[in-house]
Formats: sequence, C-alpha cells, structure tokens
Amino acid sequence: MFLPSPWRQFFPGILAFAEQQQVWLDSAATAQKPQSMLDALAQHYQQGVANVHRAQHQPGERATRAFENARSSIAKWLQADAQDTLIFTKGTTEGINLLSQALAHHLQAGDEILISAYEHHANLLPWQQLALARGLILKVLPMDTDGHLDIDQAIAQLSTRSRIVAISALSNVVGHKQSLSALLSAARKIGAWTVIDGAQAAVHERPNLQQLDCDFFVCSAHKVYGPDGVGLLFARERAVPALRHWQFGGEMVRHCDYQHAEFLPAPLGFEPGTPSTANIIAFAATLEWLQSLDSQAIATHEAALHAALLQGLQARGMQIIGSPNCALVSFNAPQVHHADLALLLGEQGIAVRAGHHCAMPLLHSLGLAGALRVSLAMYNNGDDLQRFFAALDQALEILQ
Ligand SMILES: Cc1ncc(COP(=O)(O)O)c(C=O)c1O
Repeated sequence: MFLPSPWRQFFPGILAFAEQQQVWLDSAATAQKPQSMLDALAQHYQQGVANVHRAQHQPGERATRAFENARSSIAKWLQADAQDTLIFTKGTTEGINLLSQALAHHLQAGDEILISAYEHHANLLPWQQLALARGLILKVLPMDTDGHLDIDQAIAQLSTRSRIVAISALSNVVGHKQSLSALLSAARKIGAWTVIDGAQAAVHERPNLQQLDCDFFVCSAHKVYGPDGVGLLFARERAVPALRHWQFGGEMVRHCDYQHAEFLPAPLGFEPGTPSTANIIAFAATLEWLQSLDSQAIATHEAALHAALLQGLQARGMQIIGSPNCALVSFNAPQVHHADLALLLGEQGIAVRAGHHCAMPLLHSLGLAGALRVSLAMYNNGDDLQRFFAALDQALEILQ
C-alpha cells in the first residue's frame, strides 16, 4: 500500500512512535503535535512570561498583545466575520457546558432542546442535565439506516417550543460528515439557537463560519494538532447578547462591590481567571502552520487512506458501524469482544480506540456493548494501515 505522507516529518511524536514500533491510529481521540506548535510554546516561555489583561509592565503588554493577536488569527482560520466573537474555553466540553448554562435563563418548562442520536456525551449530558433541572424536553433526532442524521425527519421535529438545536458536524463513532445547512436554516426560521459541535470536523476541513449558518460553534485545539486544555466557542454577533455570564472571578468585571457586580461583555466577560496563554498562542501558531499547507492535498491523502481502511475492513468481513465517509471507521469483528481485539492490537503496537466512545446511548441503540475505532490524520501513511491489517489478521487468527 503506497500512500506516503509528506507531512509525517513535521510531527516529532509520530517519528518517536515509529522508533517505538508504535502506530498511532487514534487521532480522533487526540492528534499528535507539529514542530511549529512546539516551537511556539518554547518561544513563549523562553522569552519570559506575564499574565494578560492586567499588567501595566512591558512583559504584560507583550503577552496581552500576543494573546489578542492569537484570538484574531484563530478567528481568521474560522473565517468568522469581524463582528462575531471568539471566546476561549478549555475545550469542546467546556464550550457546550458554557452554552447550557449561559442560555438557561431563556428556557422555560416545556421548551425543547434537540440533539442527534449520535452525539458524544459532551453534546448530550450538559443539555440532558439542564433539561432534567428545568423541566425541558430533550428531543433526540433519529438517524437513518446508514447512521446519518435524517434531515427531513429532524426538520419535522422542530416546533414552536424548540429553543436550541445542538448537533455534531462529524460523529466520533459513525464518521459521517453531516450536511446541516437545511436543518440550521429551518431552526433559525423558528428562532431556535443552533450549536455546532465541531470537535471532530474541524481538523478535516477548515471551518467556514460565514457559510455555516449557526449561532455557536465549538471545538478543541488538541484534536486540530494543537495543545491540550484549550478550545474555542465562536458566537455569532446576533447570538452574543443571549449569553448570560456563567463563571465568575478575576478580569471579567467592569465594576464590583461587596454585594453587586457588573460584568464585561464577551469575550473577556466569559473568560474569568488566568487563561491558558501559552497554549492559546501555540494553538494560533499551529493553525497558521496548517494554513500554509496544501489543504486539498491533505484532504485527498486522508480520503485515500480512509478508502483503503474501509476496503480492508470490509474484505475481512468486519461489521462496520454506519457508512462512514470521513477520517474514521468504527467496527466489530464477528464473535469477538472489542476489548479482546483491542488488547491484542495494542500488544502489537497498534493504538486504536475501543469501548463506547463516549456515546453510550448510540451504541446501546445499535445493540452494541462497544466497538473498535481506527481514526486517521494527515501524518498516517500506507505503512500504518499495512501494519494495522497485519496485526488485525494475527489477532483474529487467535480470537476467532
Ligand atoms: C464529537 C465530539 N464532541 C465533543 C468531544 C469532546 O471533546 P473534548 O474532550 O476535547 O472536550 C469529542 C471528543 O472526542 C468528540 O469527539
């Protein structure tokens, strides 16, 4: 299988794994980091650090400038309009928790929140818990037999009580890049807020938030080759006033006395406490590096790897979940427990994910206790897949 990756050389972690005879096929969990990100982190720390937005000294000014430049640079990557707002979070999970708290005051008992059947727990539990606490109705939009969101049925489920529609653009289990524009515009027509979970999608296609007509978009840096512990919440200009402050602390107040406080608007009003300055600066550097690459060539490479992965699994009679069209495939081997197979793959140096993938209700609805998942990134190559299939064949010989 001759599918070389010209980008592999830029990822020291992948080169280290190669020396350890380790194949990384779990990038949907977290992606390896490019040298540009490591350089940006080192440079930030080596030149001396300071806190942002609170100091009059020169290091503080420099840190604040670098931090706000990172915000502008990341907004550019998102292709956001200048009037829209970018709030830094710890990741997708925190972004959705923020929204579930910051929008809660608009909701009344009997109002509806709609999510899809394939959501990650991060885009289920915050809404579920809010619904339980406030007497809201959590509607789960069904999938068709291919594991895709049934858009016509989803639109039919909208009602005058629908207040929030929160959907993942790419499922971490089903691996189907979902076209959401019809649902987003139907939701907008009835005045519901729309939230896109871009945790899986953002790394495989640069978001275009002028085209994607949602109110909010969340993703995590670590899945886009960036650092851990940082994420973003994009909020469209029209939706920002709907947000009520949700966490409280330093650097988010305009004025405060012992009994009352007046808060800053977004973004700073939603970023209390010391931010992850170095990681945010390194995230911006990662995205700038990413934009310097040929995105079409990366997409073509990833698609070729995905086709080879799918074909190899089908040829071996694996039970594939849904009909994935992007970056990952979840599957089971007939009569084999996913944990046994993952163990034997792991012993042969193949890192894949096994379990319920933080989507327990989805797997239960499919009658599955778990599944394996192979996920791909720009640094994978044909050799990685060949090693995976050799290890799979060996494991199946033992287990079947
Ligand atoms: C679709 C989806 N949404 C949300 C998350 C949560 O991301 P994080 O753990 O970075 O907050 C994940 C993580 O795997 C995911 O795949």
